[in-house]
Amino acid sequence: MTVCEYKPGLEGIPAAQSSISYVDGQKGILEYRGIRIEDLATKSTFLETSYLLIWGELPTKEELTAFEEEILHHRRVKYRIRDMMKCFPETGHPMDALQASAAALGLFYSKRALDNPDYIREAVVRLLAKIPTMVAAFQLMRKGNDPVRPNDNLDYAANFLYMLNEREPDPLAAHIFDVCLTLHAEHTINASTFSAMVTASTLTDPYAVVASAVGTLAGPLHGGANEEVITMLEEIGSVENVRPYLDDCLQRKSKIMGFGHRVYKVKDPRATILQDLAEKLFEKFGHDKYYDIAVELERAVEEKLGHRGIYPNVDFYSGVVYRKLGIPTDLFTPVFAIARVAGWLAHWKEQLAENRIFRPTQIYNGIHNADYVPIEER
Ligand code: CMC
Repeated sequence: MTVCEYKPGLEGIPAAQSSISYVDGQKGILEYRGIRIEDLATKSTFLETSYLLIWGELPTKEELTAFEEEILHHRRVKYRIRDMMKCFPETGHPMDALQASAAALGLFYSKRALDNPDYIREAVVRLLAKIPTMVAAFQLMRKGNDPVRPNDNLDYAANFLYMLNEREPDPLAAHIFDVCLTLHAEHTINASTFSAMVTASTLTDPYAVVASAVGTLAGPLHGGANEEVITMLEEIGSVENVRPYLDDCLQRKSKIMGFGHRVYKVKDPRATILQDLAEKLFEKFGHDKYYDIAVELERAVEEKLGHRGIYPNVDFYSGVVYRKLGIPTDLFTPVFAIARVAGWLAHWKEQLAENRIFRPTQIYNGIHNADYVPIEER
């Protein structure tokens, strides 16, 4: 066996062969199944993109309609799951609530038939359909309200905003939210996708796969960064304070949230699209001072850190967009999860097709033949 050099964080080590998505971090290119993200963001919908990611090809009109209808019919969540969620503390983070609820789905749909395409499709449909309902339900229940039932007249994105805000969204807001979901749907082997793949490789059920990925996405170095970006912009408070704030961060060697990426060494193409969407929202619904702070911060970071390849990532402008859509800050990461379920499920399916359990090795750097010291002598 070839002995490889140890790379912390497995940087640059291929952990799989995959045909789901592709990133060129030098040129700022992202493709899902070979199609550029810019094309999908302008021409596709989140559900069509999910189908593409999971089944490998764009659906025909009939296939897409059938898929959308199946999702529509599975949006409701069993009352016992809602009752379970009512017992969650309202002070708990919605990502923890989502992880527990996603895992709970496994209790209700426990038949594990990983070699049966019907079972795979049912699991895909259930997870895509129910995760948004659970995120919105937790939001309403923690405020002491009953959850809102999904609205069969609304499409996927509009229905989520409806369940969250208890009113039908403006069509532009719903469209922009749908594009946000498409942008976040997949991104090669990042931490949460790897977590999903490792869990999938044990041949456990897909609800456990998604629950483990949700737990991984929650961290501030991964999906949790979008929430931290807004907290940072609020802390900066004004355009004038951007440069003093940045200088202070750099002096303390603290990371600037929403910047930097393991793969991208230029501006993340999703950040460019999100910035554009933010401007569209402001045109219609009024300006947001945090956007001006964000633009100035981008400029200042580029001056100071651009030469080191540190540019805005997907999380930098997403928070500004979500805020304008009326999404509470601590739901930003659950919203990321709603979208990324598509990518996780695509990798689950790909993993099952040629499965080998993940079992890497380690370099032991501990001691040997140590004495067992009796407790009274320690
Ligand atoms: N602000 C300031 N310096 C940074 C930043 C940043 N945001 N990101 C990287 N650097 C510096 C870092 O200090 C290090 O410098 P040095 O070599 O002098 O020690 C160098 O760049 C390499 O950074 P790293 O943390 O070793 O790089 P990584 O590939 O392990 O980490 C990252 C990538 C995304 C975790 C990191 O850039 C980061 O922590 N960014 C802030 C958090 C964030 O925005 N996360 C969202 C990531 S994208 C979407 C997602 O995954 O969900």
